[in-house]
Parts: sequence; C-alpha cells; structure tokens
Amino acid sequence: MDNAKTDANAAKRAAGEAAAALVESGMRLGLGTGSTTAYAIEALGRRVREEGLDIAGVPTSFAAERLARQHGVPLLSLDDLGLDTIAPEAHALDLAMDGADEVSPSFDLTKGRGAAQVREKVVAALAARFVVLIDPSKDVDRLGSRMPIPVEVLPMAEPAVSRSLRGLGAEPTLRMGQSKDGPVVTDQGLWVLDAHFADGIADPEPLATAIDGLPGVLGHGLFIGMTSDVLVGLPDGSVEHR
Ligand code: 5RP
Repeated sequence: MDNAKTDANAAKRAAGEAAAALVESGMRLGLGTGSTTAYAIEALGRRVREEGLDIAGVPTSFAAERLARQHGVPLLSLDDLGLDTIAPEAHALDLAMDGADEVSPSFDLTKGRGAAQVREKVVAALAARFVVLIDPSKDVDRLGSRMPIPVEVLPMAEPAVSRSLRGLGAEPTLRMGQSKDGPVVTDQGLWVLDAHFADGIADPEPLATAIDGLPGVLGHGLFIGMTSDVLVGLPDGSVEHR
C-alpha cells in the first residue's frame, strides 16, 4: 500500500475508534456506511464482546448491516424503535455515526459515494446527536468543489431529472457500476445521478430544497444543518473533535 493510503487508513481508524468510544451502554445507535464507519462498527463489536456494552444499532445499508452482524453488533430496524410511541419532536436514537465525502466549515456535508445517502439521512434525522467521522481530505471550503452531489432517481425519470439538474447549474452523469456494463443500483433498486458543479455550490440550502422537489427524486447527498460533531482522524492516530 502506498504511504498516502496507509495514512488515510490510519486516520479513518482513529476517527472510527473515537466514535465508538463516545458510546455508552443502553444507547440506540445509527450505524453509517463506508470505510471510516467500518472501523467504528468493528470497535463497537469489540466493546460488546469485551465490556458487555449493551447497545443496538439501525444500519444505513445492506453493507453496514452485514458488517454489524460480522462484528456482533446487535441490530434494530425502524419498526423495532416503536416510533408510534415516541413524540415527533423527540429523538428515537441517541447517536448516529457516519462518514462523509465533504465537510464544510459550517458542518454541512456531501455524502453518498457508497450510494447509501437516503437511508443515511433517514437514520441521521432520528438521532439526538449526529457524529461525522472523517480524515482531513474531506475538509472543503465549498460543498461540491471536490465531489459531485449524488441524486437518487427513479430510472424512468432519469432524463427529466438530468434536465432539471442542468437547469440548477449542474452537469449530471449517471453513476455506472465498476464493470461499466450498467448503472449502479441502490439498495432501493434506483439509480444515482452525480451532479457536478464546476465551481462548487455557493448556497447549498436552497439547492438541497430544489433537488428534493424534483419529481422522480428519492433523495440526495446534501446534508444541511444535521451534524452535531465532527471527528477528524489524523494519520498519527490522534483525533480532532470539533
Ligand atoms: C456512503 C457515504 C460514506 O459515508 C461516505 O462516502 C464516506 O465514505 P468513506 O468513509 O469510505 O470515505 O456517504 O453513502
């Protein structure tokens, strides 16, 4: 492995382990998707085995669910949370943890390189505390400057949504699978358009609202005003808690 990759992995592990250390017995968690959160799930599994930590987590993707099972982290579904007995303004989860592709100075995010952005947003929105785990490469001044914004669409609506995204200043591309012989299919059976903004996004909030309003869009990877904490892992194993 080259040095940059080794550094990034050490930083991701540090952020993941710091997130797992925030967890207390009795907590209900949101379990994010991606290589950084994978370290947190692994560390949570260790704490369950070694300390008898009593937790359960809602996974944000099939991948997170498999990983949690593999590491012995007990799972919950949204049905298990008994949301009909919890006031709409109360939080059903104590803490959700997840990675991000970009983090702005105001803690707004771009997510969805793993195409799990919709479930990730559903779970994060249920949590009292949404803790985002990154390595330093994810810091940006402007969202959209390093990564496109993933937009999950109904396949039949793709041409219409693409045209509307162009109207919003983006250049959309359909995300293809690794073998390039077909589009990436999400856990919901839908497709992902990556909306590229040449100069980044000056004002993400109205853009997020506009994309949410397009017919045929299930959701997108802009997370505005949801993050409570950012844990930045560094290659030397230390963590900056913002
Ligand atoms: C998946 C995500 C991930 O959390 C995001 O892509 C960060 O992944 P990683 O921790 O592997 O860099 O949003 O949909």
